[in-house]
Formats: sequence, structure tokens, C-alpha cells
Amino acid sequence: MKVLLIGSGGREHALAWALAKSPRLEKLFVAPGNPGTAACGENVVLDVADHRAVIDFCRLQGVGLVVVGPEAPLVAGLVDDLDAAGIRCFGPSRAAARLEGSKAFTKALCDEAGVPTAAYARFTAAEPAKAYVRAQGAPIVVKADGLAAGKGVVVAASVEEAEAAIDMMFSGGLGSAGAEVVIEECLVGEEASFFVLCDGDTALPLASAQDHKRVGDDDTGPNTGGMGAYSPAPVMTSEIERRTMEEIILPSIRTMKARGTPFRGVLFAGLMITAAGPKLIEYNVRFGDPECEVLMPRLAEDLLDLLLASAEGRLAGRKIAWRPEAALTVVFAAENYPGKPVTGTEIRAIEAAEAKPDVLVFHAGTKREADGRLVAAGGRVLAVTALGSTVREAQTKAYDALKAIDWPGGFHRTDIGRRAVDREEGRA
Ligand code: AMP
Ligand code: GLY
Repeated sequence: MKVLLIGSGGREHALAWALAKSPRLEKLFVAPGNPGTAACGENVVLDVADHRAVIDFCRLQGVGLVVVGPEAPLVAGLVDDLDAAGIRCFGPSRAAARLEGSKAFTKALCDEAGVPTAAYARFTAAEPAKAYVRAQGAPIVVKADGLAAGKGVVVAASVEEAEAAIDMMFSGGLGSAGAEVVIEECLVGEEASFFVLCDGDTALPLASAQDHKRVGDDDTGPNTGGMGAYSPAPVMTSEIERRTMEEIILPSIRTMKARGTPFRGVLFAGLMITAAGPKLIEYNVRFGDPECEVLMPRLAEDLLDLLLASAEGRLAGRKIAWRPEAALTVVFAAENYPGKPVTGTEIRAIEAAEAKPDVLVFHAGTKREADGRLVAAGGRVLAVTALGSTVREAQTKAYDALKAIDWPGGFHRTDIGRRAVDREEGRA
């Protein structure tokens, strides 16, 4: 089968790497891809926002499955248009992608389905929102309703900070994403990401992971897209996983189906594991980045086969096998990220890292110059990943590999996985 994968980040390199191992794969196209995906298939230039162009490409090439990596094309309804053209696609429809595209939509779904989540209220104007914040007190969480590239959530330690966030959002600081604001109770506990594969009816647990969102060691500095991750997350015990499926995932999937907007694709639940059990912070409708870079190396299945089963409604009765090892990835980022990154700096000796046992280097923001040099072309540039029998072992291997890469223009956190390692070694 010919497959078209859409996206250009570390997530897509990890997906391309896993798809390329499938005996069923005849040819992989990646649009637009990156120098890493170029080793797994053929990168193609396609305007993904032009759905007609994507359909024409698929027809011309005989593409049997389109796999959508990032959320924006899903929210824009690419899957709907491909479906209407008779082209099989992995990912949710526009209506189902609202689970990520609108926080207010997800909160309303939680109410309807009885899903445990933070108490909340919705506002379309600043004054009532501020009055609510003053009545509730701090800490409190202020969220822009729409997609805001990771900048739409302010966990405010004081009423003043919450009021400033409300003013910023309603004065257009996040564009139309801030036209409506959700204000939430601040949940206390440990966060985990949990991934589920869905076909509209059936939801199969994939695996858990933990992300590191702040740019600096010890979770300091501004939020990023994610500076590293590991899988599995020790906080997701089998009991917490069972409760997450029963109390959060299955009621959500049933309600989406009952509404006539069944969810197909990968559902990514951002959870807070509180003293009272798992609570939903948010849904995403795609694989996480960099979480995907630790899930794919652990997957002991044919990814193409699984994604096809999701797209065709054939997940019932399936089980998904995982390698027993832990995986850990360290993001190597360009200087000044998450501000405007310094790009164009040369990266050498990736091969030395890749040659180490159990190591995979996924490209996230790289570019191949005409003269063959590999340079930084984004904020998050590489995701250096390793498997190990423990998180500690995976961490040691990933950092050893990272040190083999010659890139003076990059920086990384030095403490990815520390919490899990402390737990493994009895310090937490
Ligand atoms: P999001 O952009 O929705 O992933 O939120 C970013 C981060 O804000 C989450 O990963 C949490 O750390 C934090 N957060 C969001 N909502 C809450 C909440 N209700 N209580 C505590 N922390 C939250
Ligand atoms: N790493 C978080 C995300 O992909 O949203």
C-alpha cells in the first residue's frame, strides 16, 4: 500500500520510521517531511491547506491511506474532504477534532458524559470573567478556547495574574482563539499523557508517557511544545489506566458516537492523577510531540496495520503489544527557543549518535542545504531517543548519544526523566 503522511516534525519522523518497517508498505510519501523522513520515504511538496491538491495527489499516486500528524489539518477538515473523495484516512473528522480545537466543547462533553475534570465556567467578556476569578480566588487556570499553539493556558498563582491573562486574551493577544475564555479550578497531582487508538466504536489503550513542558531544568522557564518525554509513565499504574478507560475515555467515545460525530484516530488525554483519581485536563486528537518519539520505538506491532484498522473500524477484539523496555527522548533545541530560534547553525555527527545501540535520532526542525550540510531550521531540532530496560538506562543512553552530536548551536534539558528515575531508585 502507498501511504501519504502529513507533517514535518519529530512526531512525523517517528511515524515515518515505524511505517517504513511495515511489510505492507509499498511506498511512503511525506508532505512536507524533513531530512529525517527523507530516509524513510519520499518527501513531497504539497500545500496541505489545499484539500483539492491533496486529493489530486492521492488519486494520481494511488495512495491507499493518508495519515495526518498535526492537529491543524484535522481541525480544518482534511479528513472530511478526503473521505468524501473516497480516500482512506487516519485521523478524526472536523467535528470530532473539536475535542482539541475547542476547550469549551470538551468541557461540555465532559458534563454530558460524566467525565471527571476541573470545575469550570465559560466567558465571552472580561468583566464577568474577572468577577468569577475574584470570587473563586487563586490559584486558578485561565484558558483561551481555541488553538493557541501552546500559549493559551495560564496557571495563575494570584488573582492579579489571572486578571492580566483575561485582559490579554480578550484584547486579542491570542487572536480569535481568545474570543471565549474558560476558567478552571487548579487541579493538584501528577500529570500524565495517555494515548488511545479509536475507530469510532472501539477504543484501545496504547500507552502512557510523560512530557517536560518547561524549557529549563527543574521545570523552570517558559512553556514549550515539549523538551523531552519518556514512556511508560510510572504514575499510570494498571489500576489508574483501568479507571482512565472506564471513567474518562469510554464515556467520551460513547458520547461522541451518540452525537453522530464518532471519534476515529488517536485520542491523546492529558490527565492529572489526583488523590481522587484521574481527571481530564484536555484532549488532543493526534499523537503528542515528543511523546510519539517514545511511543513508536516501544510499539511491537505493524503501525500501518493498526492505523488501517482504526480507519476501517476494525479495532474490536484487537490487542496491542509493546516492547517491555522504557523509552526516553531528549529534545535538542536551537538557541533562544521557545523565543525566535537561532536557525541555520550546522549540525554534525548525527551518525555517531545513531550508531549507538538502542538509539534513534528523530529530526524535528532540520534542513538539508544544497551543499549537503544539515542545519537547524526550527525551535525543536532533534529528538534523541533511546530504549533501556529501565528509565535510568534509557536516559543514560539518550544523553550519551546526544553528546556524540556536534552542534554548538543547540541546547537541551539535562534532567529528562528525573522523576521516574527517582521513583525507580526509591528516592520518590
Ligand atoms: P494545555 O495547553 O491545555 O496542555 O495546558 C498546559 C498545561 O497547563 C497542562 O499541561 C497543565 O500543566 C496545566 N493545566 C491546564 N489545566 C490545568 C488545571 N485545571 N489544573 C492544573 N494545571 C492545569
Ligand atoms: N507534547 C505535547 C503535545 O504534543 O501537545
